[in-house]
Amino acid sequence: MKRVTKAVFPAAGLGTRFLPATKANPKEMLPIVDKPLIQYAAEEAAAAGITDLIFIIGRSKRSIADHFDKAYELEVELETKGKLRVLEELRGMLPINVNCIYIRQAEALGLGHAVLCAQPAVNDEPFAVLLADDLIDGKPGVTKQMCDLYSYYQCSLVGVQNVDPSETASYGIVAAERMADRLSRVTQIVEKPKPADAPSNLAVVGRYVLTPRIFHHLRHIERGAGGELQLTDGIAALLKEQQVLAYEFDGKRYDCGSKLGYLEATVEYALAHPEVGAEFKAYLQKNYCVASGTPDPA
Ligand code: UTP
Repeated sequence: MKRVTKAVFPAAGLGTRFLPATKANPKEMLPIVDKPLIQYAAEEAAAAGITDLIFIIGRSKRSIADHFDKAYELEVELETKGKLRVLEELRGMLPINVNCIYIRQAEALGLGHAVLCAQPAVNDEPFAVLLADDLIDGKPGVTKQMCDLYSYYQCSLVGVQNVDPSETASYGIVAAERMADRLSRVTQIVEKPKPADAPSNLAVVGRYVLTPRIFHHLRHIERGAGGELQLTDGIAALLKEQQVLAYEFDGKRYDCGSKLGYLEATVEYALAHPEVGAEFKAYLQKNYCVASGTPDPA
């Protein structure tokens, strides 16, 4: 029986929806309150017992590696100034047994290509994929939920969520046969179908557990939707020879690749933040009519 110990974080996309913020800085480094998206994803993987974090980085992505490296000068400075709580947080960012591996995707050819770039580090092991711009608040984290399912079923899984039928063209959409609560067997998967062509409204969002056989298929796919090498097309080919399950995860997902989703996450995480939550709530109550969402006339 295999266990998932590796996770891949594709972070080499162009982030065009967030320009100019993403011109010199990756989308995955955008903060939600005080933590970059990539750190939320790394913590979610580490909490699932994953020990090898494989980051696929691209143009101007050095800051991701810098973020997870030890910052000696900063630590000395914090110690001198007596800022010990922050220092402790920085030092404990990831468990000591976790390795960070960085692989460069030289050209943004698509998510399928980004995952294929991870093959030299993944080898012949099952692995998780986390798209950090899909921030999911789950207890336990969605990666833990899916790794536990992998331990039992020993097959690939995609995290899915019901979306409004008008939104299917933004997602990979699956057709699936129900097996158990929250779990279905995928029979078909298509990338970005128009609502009229969508086999359902079950959309794949940024969490996967894949068997290493996916690499074989990713090497053979052709450019698909948007002219990119799509992970969805690799999974469609995998489906023909291995079982793939769709898992309706337990957690609230924020699409932080879009401005609106990013703002929603920022508000929710700020309200729940131990340091600023109460004051932020008071600010919103004072300046906005929070219940109806309209500005407070007072
Ligand atoms: P998106 O579809 O969100 O694309 O990628 P994007 O380029 O990041 O953003 P927009 O649409 O231009 O605003 C989904 C995930 O796949 C990664 C992205 O970093 C993101 O985590 N990705 C995408 C790569 O790593 N490489 C690619 O070639 C494409």
